[in-house]
Amino acid sequence: MYILYTVITSLVCFLILKWMKRRRYCTDVKRLDGKTVLITGGNSGIGKETAVALAIRGARVIIACRDVDKAQKAVREIKARSHNVNVVYMELDLANMRSIREFCTSFLQKEKRLNILINNAGIPSVLDWTDDNFSMCFGVNHLGHFLLTNLLLGRLKESAPSRVITLTCDNYKYQKLDFQDLNYNLLPFFTYCRSKLANIYFTQELARMTDGKGVTAYAVHPGYVQSNWTCHFSILFRILMQVIMFMFFVPCELGAQTVIYCAVSDTVTDNNGGYFTDCRPATLRPFAKDPGVAKKLWEASERLVRLA
Ligand SMILES: NC(=O)c1ccc[n+]([C@@H]2O[C@H](COP(=O)([O-])OP(=O)(O)OC[C@H]3O[C@@H](n4cnc5c(N)ncnc54)[C@H](OP(=O)(O)O)[C@@H]3O)[C@@H](O)[C@H]2O)c1
Repeated sequence: MYILYTVITSLVCFLILKWMKRRRYCTDVKRLDGKTVLITGGNSGIGKETAVALAIRGARVIIACRDVDKAQKAVREIKARSHNVNVVYMELDLANMRSIREFCTSFLQKEKRLNILINNAGIPSVLDWTDDNFSMCFGVNHLGHFLLTNLLLGRLKESAPSRVITLTCDNYKYQKLDFQDLNYNLLPFFTYCRSKLANIYFTQELARMTDGKGVTAYAVHPGYVQSNWTCHFSILFRILMQVIMFMFFVPCELGAQTVIYCAVSDTVTDNNGGYFTDCRPATLRPFAKDPGVAKKLWEASERLVRLA
C-alpha cells in the first residue's frame, strides 16, 4: 500500500512539474540565407542556442562576447551543430562604454548588413559597478545595449527590414524605475528587475522612434531557463539553484524559442514594440506601458552614455 501511494504521488508530482515546464516551440521554418544576425553573449545559455538555431536557418551569425576563449569554443560548437561555417565572434564588453564604441566601429567597417540584432547578454542579480561607474545590472543589461543599438541603428536601417530583439524578464513587474536613482544598487534582485523593466521601455521607445523606417523591436521573456547565470554566485547558492532549476526551469533550447520566433515570424511585426513570451505576444502591467516613462528613460540614457 505504502509503495503504491509513493508511486502515485511521484507520478502526480512528475506530471505537475511537466505541465509547469510546458513551453511552445517556434514552428516557423523561415530561412535566413543572406541575413546577418548579431547576438550579444552568444557564447552561453539562451544566446548560444539562439545562435545555433539561426545558423541552421542559413544566417551569418556573429556572437559578441567578452571572453575570447569562451567565444572561440562557442563558435566551434555552433558551427559543428548547425553545419554552417558562416559563424564568427567579435570582442565586446558591455560593462565598458569604450569597448562598445570600439566594437561598433569595427563592426561597421567589417559588416555591410545587420538584419537581426539580439540584445541577449545579461547579468543576474549582482551588486557591482561597471568600468564607467554604472550599477552592473543597469549598466550591462540596459545602458550597454542602449548604446550598442544606437551606434548600429544606421546599419539596421540600411539593412531594412530589420529587427532588434531584447531579452527581458517577467520579474520586471516587481519594481518601478526611480529617475532620481537610475543606478540603484542596493538589493541585488531589485537591481535586476529594474534593468529588465528598462529593457521593456527601451524596446517600446525604439519601436516608436523607428516606426516606418524598416526597423522593428521586440522584448522577450524567455521563461525560466537552465542556463549559466548561477556562475555569478557562491557555490552553495549554485548547488541549491541546480536542484530548483532541474525541477522548475526549462532547457536553454526551449528558452531560445521565443527569441527565434521574434527573429523569423512575419506576424510579430503587427506587434512592433511588443512584449513576447512562449512564442506569442503577452500582456504587460499598465505601468510598464507608459510612453512618457519610456521617453524619459531614453533621454536619460542618452545623457548617461553621452550619446547626444
Ligand atoms: N535564465 C533565465 O531564467 C532567464 C530568465 C529571464 C530572462 N533571462 C535573460 O536572458 C538573457 C540570457 O541569459 P542566460 O540565461 O542565457 O544567461 P547566461 O548563460 O549567463 O548568459 C549570459 C551571457 O551574457 C554574457 N555577458 C555577461 N556580461 C557581459 C558583458 N559585460 N559583456 C558581454 N557579455 C556579457 C555572458 O558572458 P560570459 O559567458 O563571459 O559570462 C553570457 O554569454 C539575459 O539577458 C537574461 O537576463 C534569463
